[in-house]
Amino acid sequence: MPPISPFVFATCNVGSEASLKAEVFRSHGKVLTPAFMRPGLITWKSKIELPSDFDMQSVFARTSGFSHGLGKTIGDIASLVQKMGTSPLHLHLFPRIPPEDEWVEQDRARIDTLRASLSAALAEKNVSIQAPMNPALGDWILDLIVEPDSEQSLVGLHQHDHDKHPSPGGLPRIDQPPEAPSRAYLKMEQALAWQGLSREKTLSGLTALELGCAPGGASYSLLKRGIRVFGVDTGTMDDRVLNFQENEGPAFTHLRTTAGAVSSHSLPPKIDLLVSDMNLAPPIVLKYVEALQRRIRAKILIVTLKLNDRSLEEKIPLYLKHFAQFAPGPISATQLAANRREICLFSRV
Ligand SMILES: C[S@@+](CC[C@H](N)C(=O)[O-])C[C@H]1O[C@@H](n2cnc3c(N)ncnc32)[C@H](O)[C@@H]1O
Repeated sequence: MPPISPFVFATCNVGSEASLKAEVFRSHGKVLTPAFMRPGLITWKSKIELPSDFDMQSVFARTSGFSHGLGKTIGDIASLVQKMGTSPLHLHLFPRIPPEDEWVEQDRARIDTLRASLSAALAEKNVSIQAPMNPALGDWILDLIVEPDSEQSLVGLHQHDHDKHPSPGGLPRIDQPPEAPSRAYLKMEQALAWQGLSREKTLSGLTALELGCAPGGASYSLLKRGIRVFGVDTGTMDDRVLNFQENEGPAFTHLRTTAGAVSSHSLPPKIDLLVSDMNLAPPIVLKYVEALQRRIRAKILIVTLKLNDRSLEEKIPLYLKHFAQFAPGPISATQLAANRREICLFSRV
């Protein structure tokens, strides 16, 4: 059992620190006191001894766990990890300030070089480290959150679970193709990576219904994965999406209407994924998604909720409660790296 620290950490999108701090105060204010805050990272001290399975259960925290302090050099970090006495571990090394939208070669190279040096330093101290990806439920993950301009890293530890990101820091290295019609491509790809659905062919042959699909970034991601898409929006779709061919026929069907007016005869008999990215208030989005889900019974739901007004953040637990009432299975919620003032809800059978 890994050693438990009185400190906990959470990483988040730069700009979401106040949202994260307020969320943690609402859920754990009696126990956790903020210790330090930097862009993309907050730590707290606990007033009580936390159980080893303590989970912050925060939507704005993309990664969270126990904090074991700052290591200034690779040698310091290796010593800290050795003192923790936990192995084998998955090593998740990632930058405190995530790359803006896409990883550039320089970011990748810096993280990979640091990772290689650190793995070597740890091996010298007989600490064994597993491959960084695909942790199993319950596996312990060593988080090393790297400062922008030095080797200094915060050393953290968390346990993998179904709602946790499998890639280091929840920052999968996904590139947006230049022809993608919108940033929603990246949001969809990150949502699939979060839920371990991004491997080739996992979703091929399925059918999706997307509410709020224009101009088509998310649909483009799904189409490229071999998914047939029915898209609902009164807005104009990008030609690449409209003309996307599969088996010599169009793979995208545009239902040029609103989510509340989708008629059953325009839908295929079986829909596997229900996706929503409508720019409407969360209760209205949930009302439309619920009504459609009760009709189509999709196995997978991916819903973006826009939180344009910060006062809506307090209501996230209510939105999740509503979502759980019609979701096909356990629910998860996170703020993806590509989410601006919004969060992503997920559920599958
Ligand atoms: C953020 S954009 C969607 C981006 C899109 N998912 C993509 O991949 O490019 C929000 C969209 O929601 C649509 N929308 C707003 N209200 C809607 C409604 N009641 N039914 C369907 N779509 C709606 C808007 O027309 C707008 O195109």
